[in-house]
Amino acid sequence: MLDLLITNATLADGRTHMSVAIRAGTIVEVAAGLCAPAVQTIDAQGYLLTPPFVDAHFHMDATLSYGQPRVNQSGTLLEGIALWGELKPALTQEAILARALRYCDWAVAKGLLAIRSHVDVCDPRLLAVEALLEVKRRVAPYLDLQLVAFPQDGVLRGAQGPQQHLDTLRRALDLGVDVVGGIPHFERSMADGALSVKLLCELAAERGLRVDMHCDESDDPLSRHVETLAFETQRLGLQGRVTGSHLTSMHSMDNYYVSKLIPLMAEAQLHVVANPLINITLQGRHDSYPKRRGMTRVPELLSAGINVAFGHDCALDPWYSLGSADMLEVAHMGLHVGQMCSPAGMHDCFDAVTHRAAAVLGLEGYGLRPGCHADFVLLQARDPIEAIRLRANRLQVFRRGHCIAHTAPAQTALHLSGRPDRTDFCL
Ligand code: FE2
Repeated sequence: MLDLLITNATLADGRTHMSVAIRAGTIVEVAAGLCAPAVQTIDAQGYLLTPPFVDAHFHMDATLSYGQPRVNQSGTLLEGIALWGELKPALTQEAILARALRYCDWAVAKGLLAIRSHVDVCDPRLLAVEALLEVKRRVAPYLDLQLVAFPQDGVLRGAQGPQQHLDTLRRALDLGVDVVGGIPHFERSMADGALSVKLLCELAAERGLRVDMHCDESDDPLSRHVETLAFETQRLGLQGRVTGSHLTSMHSMDNYYVSKLIPLMAEAQLHVVANPLINITLQGRHDSYPKRRGMTRVPELLSAGINVAFGHDCALDPWYSLGSADMLEVAHMGLHVGQMCSPAGMHDCFDAVTHRAAAVLGLEGYGLRPGCHADFVLLQARDPIEAIRLRANRLQVFRRGHCIAHTAPAQTALHLSGRPDRTDFCL
């Protein structure tokens, strides 16, 4: 006897009339037209059943703090960092915990069940680290939260001094933070940025941890930290375990240089995370017209065989005044900014917030295959392209075979003579 049988589902790869069988929180079979006795059977009515959304890049310590203590007037990354610095002394663990848990509620409602969040480790009290470790424990039954030790003020530049910052970062890792972060473009010089990449990658190699650096998040065409990140990845044997986040400077780089850089990144098996909502908002702020879009070269990186995912990055915080944990909104923006409008490009955007993001986190048991966790989302859409177009309604969200959120089907009644009495925007 199965615990749960989903029938008549469409999968992201285009297969229709598919059944997914679940026992003890695990998928045991995926087959067309499968019928078997189950405690509960759900007819998916031909809608899209997908593994959960995954956010490869977020800042949960700052989320939902919009307007505290004031709003970012210039809209730049640098004013956002300064504003976060103003807020930090007033932070309390209780406030971080409450905001983060509220965001996780939104995430579950949107079918977002795994998040990699950076957490600021420049505060020697490690207030935010302790708060987010508590959040990680509390949400573990329904959401995988992976934490990155992120020295927001620069591990070499920060006010505490390099030794203190490295020690605090090590303490955060000792407490259970999963991944080593960095911010080389914010260090004082290109040389210091490169040194920070070297030191932090060596720390990750020593401890057998993954790396995820905010890297080249600027419009500077001469920023070169992703080259250093690829070099250190290869030197230390970290291939496949290192992520370059943002890489917005690649948007502005010389094409000849990029023709050399991308193969080096592929050789080091770097993962790349673009953050379309934030990149299109923060980048190009020093331009008059034309204004650069700022997002990294997503189609070109994918063509080179590099794993590219999309992240939400910010929601209602010093850097971004909107956001609702909707990874389909992120994919929608990525599709537009990257002009990924072909059918294959649109599928790539869906993958960037599902499978490709899961690969960045190194999630185990992710997917709609026998042996994977019974985690999935039923969307009110017939395929991934329709899901992005509609930022589709999440009809049901499952974790380990149990429904943890559901939403009534969206439809609007029409009062028009000679026309149907309702529409749901699906074709
Ligand atoms: Fe970020």
